[in-house]
Amino acid sequence: MLKRIHKLNDNLVNRICAGEVVERPSSALKEILENSIDASSDRVDIELLEGGSKLIKVSDNGSGIDKDDLILAIERHATSKLANEDDLYAIRTLGFRGEGLASIASVSWFTLSSKIQESSCGYQIANIFGEQNDIKPVSINNGTIVEVSDLYNNIPARKKFLKSESTEYQHCKSTFERIAISNPQVSFSLTHNHKEIYSLSSGDLLSRISEIFGNDYKNKYFTIAEDVGNELSLSGYVYHPSYLANNKNVQMFFINGRFVRDKVVQNAIKQGFSGVLHHEHSPNYVLFLTINPADIDVNVHPSKNEVRFKDSGSIHSFISRTLKKSLADNLFNNSSSQTYSNANNDTHSYDVPIREFDNNSPSYNSSSIGSNNYSQGTKEHINSYQGTQDRNLIANWFNIPKDASHELFDFNEIGHKTDNASYLPLGSALAQLQGIYILSQTRDGLIVVDMHAAHERIILERLKTQLMSDSIASQQLLMPLLVNVTPLQSEAFTLNKQQLSLLGFEIDMLGENQLAIRSIPLLLDDGKTEKLVIDVLDDFTNFGGSNIIADHQEELLSTMACHCAVRANHQLTIPEMNALLREMEQTNRANYCNHGRPTWFKLTMNDLDKMFMRGQ
Ligand SMILES: Nc1ncnc2c1ncn2[C@@H]1O[C@H](COP(=O)(O)OP(=O)(O)OP(=O)(O)O)[C@@H](O)[C@H]1O
Ligand SMILES: [Mg+2]
Repeated sequence: MLKRIHKLNDNLVNRICAGEVVERPSSALKEILENSIDASSDRVDIELLEGGSKLIKVSDNGSGIDKDDLILAIERHATSKLANEDDLYAIRTLGFRGEGLASIASVSWFTLSSKIQESSCGYQIANIFGEQNDIKPVSINNGTIVEVSDLYNNIPARKKFLKSESTEYQHCKSTFERIAISNPQVSFSLTHNHKEIYSLSSGDLLSRISEIFGNDYKNKYFTIAEDVGNELSLSGYVYHPSYLANNKNVQMFFINGRFVRDKVVQNAIKQGFSGVLHHEHSPNYVLFLTINPADIDVNVHPSKNEVRFKDSGSIHSFISRTLKKSLADNLFNNSSSQTYSNANNDTHSYDVPIREFDNNSPSYNSSSIGSNNYSQGTKEHINSYQGTQDRNLIANWFNIPKDASHELFDFNEIGHKTDNASYLPLGSALAQLQGIYILSQTRDGLIVVDMHAAHERIILERLKTQLMSDSIASQQLLMPLLVNVTPLQSEAFTLNKQQLSLLGFEIDMLGENQLAIRSIPLLLDDGKTEKLVIDVLDDFTNFGGSNIIADHQEELLSTMACHCAVRANHQLTIPEMNALLREMEQTNRANYCNHGRPTWFKLTMNDLDKMFMRGQ
């Protein structure tokens, strides 16, 4: 039978749309809190019952809503935040679609009370599962109170999708935390089932971070502050990569104050951290991107937590480069070559204590890395410390093809003679401990080096230099590796073949959807080649831009370095250990391994004297 077309009534439209805007209590909470922020509130109080599905009550002290606008406030497509089409490309508020309250009101027992400063009393409107009541006066302070009860009670099928009270509560709590972090100037309180969860006074971002994530977080972040003008800046904090093992996962990215999850951003952050973070770890950060609203489209999804960039390639590059630079400045600005050639500057130590001795009795914690308080004259010692090295010996224990060792381990005329080496920054080797650490004596104490970590960094830096001067040496495979690709991947391959060959990959197209990998980088042989190639092609497709390959180079080189570095339990002779120490002294960033962990630390004689209570 032919079915005729008819228009849906407003109530039904609202309910259909509510499905997208109000997925669960936390999305209702998000809409309401965003309205409070848009209304310039500086105090917002939130009460939740039963994970928000029984009650969400938000009271703010913002601008309020005029009595005559109360009905419009809960009508669809009614907003005070947009006036004309041009405004759509200049959005500076969190809301703009004019549907948040309408959606919530259609699926809950909803009341909206508000008082503007100019009025002597407030007014309230109720909307019970879509049925509107009359406006009545109410006695409240300036600002707005929104109450949402029994969410989805009128749509049992939908209510069934809600999870347990504790899951819904966790979602609400996370939503609250995001809004609280992005608005540290606002005081907030949150209660759940009458229990106080947060009571946050206004302050700066760092205090807000510590109120929410604990003081631990506050102390271990690096500041990011990069403003390149034209309304493009990145600011906030990233967590020190060395501490990742024992922290919570904090990944918050805001664009123009809006929390977003975005593939371009996530990839840019990952690449920003490449080379200092183990690939299985996720970086932790609270970051704010400010961008000209004309360069971004926030009207992608009704939930408003997705964006589209006008030029995703340059945003990707801006984010990853800013992070890389900042991490380099913070982690490596005391890099060995710099520090050592600055040896005359007497003491040079890091702000962040890297390892503390977990020793209950004589308590001391001064063992920070890089406390290079060796004194004047060291530089001359380095310069006078020349000798020929035995490349074969090095190539042997570095466990890499001898051809490559020439490029990788040219020791810049620093030899590995052991006499007098204790005058050198990393001293002269005494022994190898448990096949893992090198113990080395310096003029004023003992240095402990994690040999695999240090070696990995040395190789990475060498590979990077090699790549900058030429391309990475590659090796031909006996049998080509065949990889199936999608049409998009094959297009990405055709466009970027040249770039791949710079990295040491020789690849041909076999058919429309198959590639043959014929050569791979000399040092890469870990059975993950196909995946690596596919990942790189996907990145070309998703993010475009020639900088992607540059960022991937580091990841690739880092993988290669890890595979080539000397393994634990590999017995080293004293000359080999000294060779490694000398090489570290010549390597940029040698104080941290490729995953951001320290490669060495020093115990001074002072530390030891204190420990043994000598001279007290
Ligand atoms: N807490 C509040 N304080 C002051 N005005 C408010 C508040 N909440 C809502 N409003 C007013 O009600 C209007 C409708 O709110 P609603 O959330 O439905 O839409 P919006 O915020 O304009 O857009 P979006 O649907 O994208 O959130 C807002 O434009 C604003 O003028
Ligand atoms: Mg809104």
